[in-house]
Amino acid sequence: MKIAIGCDHGGIVLKEAILAELNKRGIEVIDKGCYDSSSVDYPDYGEAVAEAVASGEADKGILMCGTGIGIAIAANKVKGIRCGVCHDVFTATMCAEHNNANVLSMGGRVVSPALAAQMVAAWLDTPFGGGRHAGRVAKITAIEDKNFK
Ligand code: RB5
Repeated sequence: MKIAIGCDHGGIVLKEAILAELNKRGIEVIDKGCYDSSSVDYPDYGEAVAEAVASGEADKGILMCGTGIGIAIAANKVKGIRCGVCHDVFTATMCAEHNNANVLSMGGRVVSPALAAQMVAAWLDTPFGGGRHAGRVAKITAIEDKNFK
């Protein structure tokens, strides 16, 4: 399993704890930046991680900005990406089970590093539920097919 990660200056506080969780699991990390707390633009990192997942360079992606919102909006502009903003273990679990999200997004000004690591664990450990959820996710893909070039 390969996971691409990306963040801006608002999300970098979560990076170390998330890397520790991924390293513990022996997951290969593709780090798309940023690498320090200098102010940067979150769309650049959302796009880089989303493209890594969409192209197959990575199996999944993890994003972090101040709220998790802006970087998720950017990622969701890439065809094939289902990125959900999560705030706790429940939403991270549902993001996998109901939405089959291939990118998880969190806010460094919203959740603690310890909680972010627990959310990553829940998201990775939860399989997609399939069934009625598969039909709904297929409808999302149909919207995408209609509206993306
Ligand atoms: C940066 O200050 C902040 O706007 C960004 O990290 C994020 O919260 C945007 O959605």
